[in-house]
Amino acid sequence: MMNTQHVPVLLNESLDLLIKKKDGIYFEGTLGFGGHTGEILKRLDKNGLVISTDVDREAFEYCKKRFEKEKRVRLYNFNFSLIDVIAKIESLMLFDGVIADLGVSSYQLDNASAGFTYSSDSPLDLRMDKNLKTTAADIVNSFDEEELARIIYEYGEEKKSRKIARQIINSRKNGTIKTSFDLKKIIEEITPQRYLVKTLSRVFQALRIHINNELESLKQFLNNSMNVMKSGSRIVIISYHSLEDRIVKEFFKYEELDCICPKDSPVCTCDKESRLKILTRKPIVPSDNEIKINKRSRSAKLRAAEVL
Ligand SMILES: C[S@@+](CC[C@H](N)C(=O)[O-])C[C@H]1O[C@@H](n2cnc3c(N)ncnc32)[C@H](O)[C@@H]1O
Repeated sequence: MMNTQHVPVLLNESLDLLIKKKDGIYFEGTLGFGGHTGEILKRLDKNGLVISTDVDREAFEYCKKRFEKEKRVRLYNFNFSLIDVIAKIESLMLFDGVIADLGVSSYQLDNASAGFTYSSDSPLDLRMDKNLKTTAADIVNSFDEEELARIIYEYGEEKKSRKIARQIINSRKNGTIKTSFDLKKIIEEITPQRYLVKTLSRVFQALRIHINNELESLKQFLNNSMNVMKSGSRIVIISYHSLEDRIVKEFFKYEELDCICPKDSPVCTCDKESRLKILTRKPIVPSDNEIKINKRSRSAKLRAAEVL
């Protein structure tokens, strides 16, 4: 079996909030290498069930092996936005809890063959789902300056997006950008050494979010979850950057409101109903100790809510 080296983040905090029934049916949208799914199983009795999915084929295949003797698991290689479709396939009425631990796993980040890293030279890919047609290389070699700058600014929150986009376009004259090191070299040429790691992370994050349609998938997942969750069940989301966290925060806030009429309207006419109660007014973040053990947990934010 491959060495996955992924340390699950905020494991106890997330599962303490998620699990209320030992014989419940739980959904994990981001199976990865089974860290959270494995721990959910430990906390359920023999009648419990975990349905988990990951778009990454390697993660899915790994977990099929890891859990092959476990009768209380069903695994899918679907996008988590299809939570309602998965519930239908399983002939399930409703879930007792839903969790997602967003982003990419350490395996995806550390292994050149997975195509996510800029630390070693690998094909410039960045697709979690290798069935997607467009790779990061396709984008940097074909998009115009305006589009590239927008992606780097919006999804990487990178202030030098225009300069980077221009440099990418100029470098195309020297040949196709094929690998992570090709792109790294282009960015290195215009970035002071002390900002390099941050800039590279932002540009690679931006391309990854765009290629995998990550923010749209998250919005669909949150919306679709609401149709397949029991009253009293909980939704727990761990995010790793502000764009994801903002979506979760805004969604929870909106779903908690029972009126969206203008403030000066004398009577309520909106028919809006509150569907969630927020359980984490402020996001839960990893302890200093967890960050010391697992540096990658440092940007994690956990938000949870209960379905009314
Ligand atoms: C941070 S890792 C999850 C790690 C897992 N909780 C564990 O402890 O092993 C995120 C995983 O979610 C997957 N993923 C990201 N977006 C997804 C989506 N929209 N649908 C399904 N899987 C997704 C990635 O491929 C990756 O394996």
